[in-house]
Amino acid sequence: MKVYKVKDYETMSQKAAAFLAAKMILKPDALLGLATGSTPIGTYKRLVEMYQTNDLDFSGIRTVNLDEYRGLPSSSPNSYHYFMKENLFSKVNILPENTHILDGSNPDTESVCQEYEDKIEKLGPIEVQLLGLGHDGHIAFNEPGDEFADRTHCVWLNEQTIQANKRFFAKEQDVPRQAYTMGIGTIMKARSILMLVSGSQKAEILKKVLEGPVTPKVPGSILRFHPDVTIFADEAALGCGQTG
Ligand code: F6R
Repeated sequence: MKVYKVKDYETMSQKAAAFLAAKMILKPDALLGLATGSTPIGTYKRLVEMYQTNDLDFSGIRTVNLDEYRGLPSSSPNSYHYFMKENLFSKVNILPENTHILDGSNPDTESVCQEYEDKIEKLGPIEVQLLGLGHDGHIAFNEPGDEFADRTHCVWLNEQTIQANKRFFAKEQDVPRQAYTMGIGTIMKARSILMLVSGSQKAEILKKVLEGPVTPKVPGSILRFHPDVTIFADEAALGCGQTG
């Protein structure tokens, strides 16, 4: 695991975009694993800028997203479908048929999850999986628990996650209680992983991910067993000291 300390959110976003751009240039038909949330917004902004200046081409790029709220149609402004369209897909020359996100509007958990696993298997392997880190240590929506969930599945969101995500909704009751998410096993099959962490409110959990025991109680800690993980974390998230 390579941990790079960066100054702040802006620098983190710049470096993350450069990292992803390098992968895209080397492999113009790469399958990218993408994330939503506040953390990658700056990265997507930078990627859009690179596209606008003709420095990046998305025409052959394929994407799969980590997760989606269960019960939200893709047209909902709170869905991750909508987020991806707003922040990236509608602003670059990616083909809509090359973007894949779990279908939150389909209540048939079994078929949604199986189809997604089959899809990743067929399109994959994921060249680089972008990850944020939840306040409770979750990656994608794999919440702390007694075991690592292997494959794409449906989860109940933790109270802490609901609290953290309510900022995107008009009121707390609107936050869906369930989500579909790639499993830990699905994520660990990616060739490489890029995790971004920003802000002092993530410092405690990041320390556990980096230095605590590898345990499903801190799902992000499993990344220590992956052979190719890069972390860009800003000074606030790292406290002081750790560089790579
Ligand atoms: C989003 C996702 C989540 C977020 C995490 C951090 O697709 O999978 O694991 O990465 O909740 O969210 P932010 O970036 O909003 O702090």
